[in-house]
Amino acid sequence: MKQPLIAPSFLSANFLNLQADIEMINNSNADWFHLDIMDGRFVPNISFGFPIIKQINKLSKKPLDVHLMIVEPDKYLEEFQKAGADILTVHYEACTHLNRTLVKIRDLGMKAGVSINPHTPVWVLEEIIDYADLILIMSVNPGFGGQKFIPQTYDKIKKLKRMINEHENKPLIEVDGGVNTSNAKALTEAGADVLVAGSAIFGSENPVETIDKMKYFKD
Ligand code: DX5
Ligand code: ZN
Repeated sequence: MKQPLIAPSFLSANFLNLQADIEMINNSNADWFHLDIMDGRFVPNISFGFPIIKQINKLSKKPLDVHLMIVEPDKYLEEFQKAGADILTVHYEACTHLNRTLVKIRDLGMKAGVSINPHTPVWVLEEIIDYADLILIMSVNPGFGGQKFIPQTYDKIKKLKRMINEHENKPLIEVDGGVNTSNAKALTEAGADVLVAGSAIFGSENPVETIDKMKYFKD
């Protein structure tokens, strides 16, 4: 089984000393920086915006994986590209014209991601697989770090994997919410390519070691 990519979620980072956490991730085996953007409308929480992304982009040596939990994301695609996003993920539930949105993200030179909430079945993505570089399955209801993993996620990953196998274009499968050293292996076995983790990494005593444990399945 191949090793998953690890994307630490900065929602759980220390905002009083972001530089230290950025350097820690730069010097770890983590693969991406996962940045959660919340607008208080799509989700019942507000996180951070462009100034923070720009600062992180200045110091980060790894791709910025930007997860938009906002309504009307189309208004801001260009601005996220300018702020430094490498992968830009929008929510299926927030896009009326998802095809148009993903095409625009790719046209702007970013990888295009689409995310689904826990209640959204994977089959709604059938017609969009060819336009996506990444599909993000939420394993908690989005809005907050530190929530409990929803076990039905395993089935969704397997179903999505089967769907992707029928297509020529093969988006990566990313999982976000309640991911930790105990479920990293099972999620990867189910078909996940990228694991996002916030509290499990930044809340641990040794985040660099926790990243390794997730990547190399050492519980
Ligand atoms: C939740 C965010 C997640 C969050 C994950 O809405 O999308 O990226 O930071 O946090 P943990 O890993 O603590 O569940
Ligand atoms: Zn996220």
